[in-house]
Amino acid sequence: MVLNFAHRGSLTDAPENTLPAFLHALDHGAKAIELDVQLTKDGALVVCHDHTLKRFNPAATKRIKDCTLAEIKQIDIGSTFSEAYQGLTLATLEEVLDLVPPDVLLNIEIKNIPVLYEGIEQRLLDCLKQYNRMETVIISSFDHVALEKVQQLAPDMDLGMLFHYRILRTWDYVRESGLRIRSIHPNQVYVDQNFVQQCKALGYEVYPYTVLSKSRYEELLSYGVDGTFTNLPSIFGQPNA
Ligand code: G3P
Ligand code: CA
Repeated sequence: MVLNFAHRGSLTDAPENTLPAFLHALDHGAKAIELDVQLTKDGALVVCHDHTLKRFNPAATKRIKDCTLAEIKQIDIGSTFSEAYQGLTLATLEEVLDLVPPDVLLNIEIKNIPVLYEGIEQRLLDCLKQYNRMETVIISSFDHVALEKVQQLAPDMDLGMLFHYRILRTWDYVRESGLRIRSIHPNQVYVDQNFVQQCKALGYEVYPYTVLSKSRYEELLSYGVDGTFTNLPSIFGQPNA
């Protein structure tokens, strides 16, 4: 079965990584959703891609790590998308877990670079345990040291290894990392048939990001990927598209 993740929720319908974006993804029929997590100054897990909220509110220049959750919850991140979302704020991970049913697979990306969040791995695992979500989540990161920490803390947790740049023999790097990696998440720009075959020969699932056209999606499917991260509801809305 092909599994396509709604990238940051349905970000064409609502501000990315927010509760309305996740609701829209569910409404489209998504069976898998991707989101990014970071930590506030007081240790709350919040769902956001950038390390500041400037892209959503030009006045919000402080880094998330330097704000308390109470401060974060004062910041409007919806108005720049549309008036309909005026007053919308970042969601906590707990709010997302309350919203998304357990039969929807979540890919939670630890957004650890350039900010390094001390202790985010334990905090995330505690939250997933509390919500009984340890078996229906893939934790991923570009920070492979964070993945190693997750594995030390929770050896059975499914892990996805993200790669932005093209590196030599990615699949060998993954194997030699010694980590129990479920899936490789490469930037889609350099994924070709050989890449997919080499990864799959070693037993890894392959989910390229971020697919923005149906034609590229079809091409990746023809290489044998297990799914993609995509902004297109026409792809993530059909689990076997
Ligand atoms: O997890 C796939 C994708 O989300 C990684 O890139 O920058 O969109 O977080 P980015
Ligand atoms: Ca992400």
